[in-house]
Amino acid sequence: MVIQENISLKSFNTFGINAKARYFSTFSDVDELEELLHAYPQYPLFILGGGSNILFTKDFNGLVLKNEIKGVDEMHEDQNYVYVKAGAGEIWHRFVLHCINNNWAGLENLSLIPGNVGASPMQNIGAYGVELQDVFYCLEAFHRQEKKILTFTSSDCEFGYRESVFKRKYKDQFIILNITLKLRKHPIFHIEYGTLKQELERMGVKELSIRSISQAVINIRKSKLPDPKDLGSAGSFFKNPVITKSKFDALKEKFPGIPSFSSREDRVKIPAGWLIEHCGPEKTESGWKGFRRGDAGCYSKQALVLVNYGNAVGQDIFNLSEEITASVKSKFGITLEREVNII
Ligand code: FAD
Ligand code: EPU
Repeated sequence: MVIQENISLKSFNTFGINAKARYFSTFSDVDELEELLHAYPQYPLFILGGGSNILFTKDFNGLVLKNEIKGVDEMHEDQNYVYVKAGAGEIWHRFVLHCINNNWAGLENLSLIPGNVGASPMQNIGAYGVELQDVFYCLEAFHRQEKKILTFTSSDCEFGYRESVFKRKYKDQFIILNITLKLRKHPIFHIEYGTLKQELERMGVKELSIRSISQAVINIRKSKLPDPKDLGSAGSFFKNPVITKSKFDALKEKFPGIPSFSSREDRVKIPAGWLIEHCGPEKTESGWKGFRRGDAGCYSKQALVLVNYGNAVGQDIFNLSEEITASVKSKFGITLEREVNII
């Protein structure tokens, strides 16, 4: 067990923020985890996955533990489903490809999401019309105080849009060790979202497959989202606001171009990217979209994504996000909620 001191976290977060951790270590099983938890009980603890949904605004004066629990196992199968368990430290996209290679369906729309398996239930990751909850079976998590492993079913997780019990009432109480998904042997395809159908047509796909859907999702993502290797970001910085139908109707009257999607809760979801693109500091064509101050900016191809052009500090990105929030509130009367975890 090696605990490093005062190390830079720059390569451990996709924003590329050069914050430091007072102590840093990794664990690859529960025994190592328990040992590490005893090491500095007086310090705050932060569990790190792939670092793709966090923004460090200062150094972390505590212990950062990177979850590296590996393993993918086929647990059980019945006529229609395969139950697949994956360690929290597995890289999400690699796991998705593994499932596709085995013809296990359900994760293809979630291709190329950065980060690790263990964080996927935290915010019920979602993309292109599918959310983790659609394929989720259960997970095992370690209770930090009681030092026990508990099993959570889907309903225990209280999944919502970019939400789960682990972000709310059990915040900072559990360390997710593994997840088990229920994947289909006979696929049901989801190609209704946005430009997915067009991309499949453009690719010349004649017969749909989970592999072609995965490739279409990858192509779309590559065309509009920055690759963390080239440009720092944490994906969507804000959630898409979900508002009542009557509030939406009033907004639509004032801003006829405003797009909307129906939401699972039978309310209206508005793309925050559109709101951010339609308000801004100067009289620009695209509002905040493409705006840059120093090395902090709003991505030119996707306004919902804040980016670090190189040497921004976390506070620069955070301050920009606050200005954007105030600007959206002032023009549309909507308060944006952050998706990214601020540390
Ligand atoms: P981290 O950033 O390391 O951690 C996130 C939070 O989870 C932290 O609070 C951390 O403490 C906690 N955590 C991590 N692992 C554990 C664990 N094992 N136990 C307990 N707590 C834990 N998200 C989407 O939903 N859909 C998208 O389409 C999408 N696109 C993205 C595109 C880009 C370019 C980027 C950079 C991000 C995108 N994201 C997207 C956000 C991000 O990839 C996901 O939220 C991902 O699940 C985060 O995983 P991670 O391992 O990097 O988590
Ligand atoms: N839009 C704009 N301007 C922009 C960006 C978007 O007007 O700059 C509008 C357009 O109307 C567009 C619509 O927003 O049609 C939707 O855009 P997009 O398909 O890019 O999706 P999004 O709503 O911006 C959400 C998720 C993404 C996920 C995609 C695809 C949230 C907060 N974000 O983005 O997830 O990949 O849909 O499903 O729900 C993430 O969570 O980090 C993330 C990237």
